[in-house]
Amino acid sequence: MIGIISAMPEEMQFLLNDLQIAKTIKKGKRTYYQGKLFNNEVVIVFSRWGKVAASATLTQLLNSFDISEVIFSGVAGALQKNLNIGDIIIGTALKQHDMDASPLYPAMEIPLLDKTSFKTSNSPKLEKATQYFLVNYSKYFDKETLKEFEIKNPKYYKGLIVSGDQFVNSDEKINIILKKAPNALCVEMEGAAVAQVCYEYDIPFQIIRIISDKANDNSHIDFPLFAKKVAGKYASGILEIYLS
Ligand code: ADE
Repeated sequence: MIGIISAMPEEMQFLLNDLQIAKTIKKGKRTYYQGKLFNNEVVIVFSRWGKVAASATLTQLLNSFDISEVIFSGVAGALQKNLNIGDIIIGTALKQHDMDASPLYPAMEIPLLDKTSFKTSNSPKLEKATQYFLVNYSKYFDKETLKEFEIKNPKYYKGLIVSGDQFVNSDEKINIILKKAPNALCVEMEGAAVAQVCYEYDIPFQIIRIISDKANDNSHIDFPLFAKKVAGKYASGILEIYLS
């Protein structure tokens, strides 16, 4: 069974619309929707924001269902200047930018686990689904929405995603993160926590993040609107191709 997680309900509304629900379980203030999605057995859950919420949700998911792989889908703020709103990041590794037990351990190293980053399973299938989605992206949106968010020719990139319990909305905060992780592509608040739990339970993990904002002064305006109007369609479009 595939576990599919997002941080916000808006990011998975379209997936839930396509899910043939067999069972719904409520635990720890989360609802786990089990059923068939494009002919695959899945469980869908939204975690709420932050590393603790994501870890608690994932741990419950792994202990309540027979999960063979986990896919996280959501939005993120861009950390690199070449990225635009609507671009997709496929994570190949994740780090917790706010973990800092120095001088006992190097910054970002998870104490007693001997790891500073968690690799994803990085399957060619998810990359192919993303490529296919991007070739056809305009059919998922009306012209006004693409214009509103200035989405033109979105691209995908593979690389490092960083997570922390912080909404990033200034160049100053971006620079602090990039000093620690210069090649990080985007920042969000859950991925590296989910990656750590998957590592500890030995479950394959993949993540896609859609750039919703540039982690600057506008990000608090861009981000919720984008999550509502755009991100959910990316998630359902890409996962439909991935699961078909
Ligand atoms: N998720 C989406 N945008 C974000 C940002 N700017 N900072 C942290 N998490 C985000």
